[in-house]
Amino acid sequence: MNFNEAKAKLEALGQSHLLRWYDELGDMEQEALLAQIDALDPSLLEVFAKYGADGEAQRGKLEPLGALTIGEIEENRERFETAGLEAIRQGKIGAVLLAGGMGTRLGFDKPKGMYNIGKTHPLYIFECLIRNLMEVVDKAGTFVPLFIMTSEKNDEDTREFFEEQKYFGYNPEYVHFFVQDMAPAVDPDGKILLEEKGRIATSPNGNGGWFSSMAKAGLLGFLQREGIEWLNIFAVDNVLQRIADPCFVGATLLSGSESGAKVVAKADPQERVGVLCLEDGAPSIVEYYEMTEEMITRREPDGRLSYNFGVILNYLFRTDRLTELLGSSLQTHVVNKKVPFIDETGSLVKPTEPNAYKFETLVLDMVHQQRSCLSYEVERDKEFAPIKNPDGVDSVVSAQGLLEANGVVL
Ligand code: UTP
Repeated sequence: MNFNEAKAKLEALGQSHLLRWYDELGDMEQEALLAQIDALDPSLLEVFAKYGADGEAQRGKLEPLGALTIGEIEENRERFETAGLEAIRQGKIGAVLLAGGMGTRLGFDKPKGMYNIGKTHPLYIFECLIRNLMEVVDKAGTFVPLFIMTSEKNDEDTREFFEEQKYFGYNPEYVHFFVQDMAPAVDPDGKILLEEKGRIATSPNGNGGWFSSMAKAGLLGFLQREGIEWLNIFAVDNVLQRIADPCFVGATLLSGSESGAKVVAKADPQERVGVLCLEDGAPSIVEYYEMTEEMITRREPDGRLSYNFGVILNYLFRTDRLTELLGSSLQTHVVNKKVPFIDETGSLVKPTEPNAYKFETLVLDMVHQQRSCLSYEVERDKEFAPIKNPDGVDSVVSAQGLLEANGVVL
């Protein structure tokens, strides 16, 4: 795209300010900016224009979905684990670590996985995850292929860190990095922000694009060649989670479901978690703010909350279904976040409060694309210690407490 084409595109979109400093830029910067403008997806600006006016998309008919409970899982543990371990040994299970996020709430300027949560010795978030996965590797007697999604903002740091730490004892031949896509950020008036005079402020485009990013990275052929039939997707920040958990894998496989989701019983009806339910008969996740008071307090005859099971971002998806769904679009969510930007005077502003809007697709929306999902209950205190904030709820401090309660020496 040349300058005139870029100018015309931006004028049509009401974004001409992006060329404000064009003349000050060197040749390479100019070229890079024009490439960014060329890649700009106008539909995101339309999404933003509708945001606020219509809110999020309308939901279909919602109904409760129960879960395979902890008690039922215990009764069948041996059977489930045997089936899961067999699938792992056959190489049918891969794990996908979603580590492309910016972790803005934590406020750590390196990839979140590099955060040290140790007290008396270094213990990095990535290290906790690898240790958890190693337990399965030891049991199965084989390494599990591990795919790590980064973004262009943290890819180099993440790879270097794994190298430096010798993959925390994991076999590097089983680790595959891939990079997710980015999307521009806009101010409250819908104006795209610049992070440098010659660079549009972009952020990772959410965790929903992981499979298409894997495809873009050329990994689909690899999945096929290796016979990887299922992928266990998990977030970087839950330091207690079980990855490629043989019992979960076995239960999902034996259930005949097309997908599986680990869930925890809500701590109280008002807890702010996304709840696994049915929407128009297909599995779906309803956010706490989308639920009516009637739904929140509704109970089953046994006294349990009807909408009781919150998701913890640990899912099993079939690779053949994901491949089929490639190209189908997921809802774009608009989220309010802190995004550093260049103001009209050209000075860099580092906001302390959310100042901008980002565009994200979410992995939880992929659940609704599945025809069935095994809802698999796990014990919150044993498997759910997310690190979102420095302290308070879902924080370094709360996760440290939970790790210690589970015997991890910090
Ligand atoms: P979060 O929404 O908690 O992560 O994503 P975040 O965006 O990094 O955090 P804040 O809101 O700015 O503090 C849950 C998981 O999805 C990954 C995160 O790395 C985390 O594992 N994620 C999120 C991505 O991989 N890419 C994204 O674009 C966003």
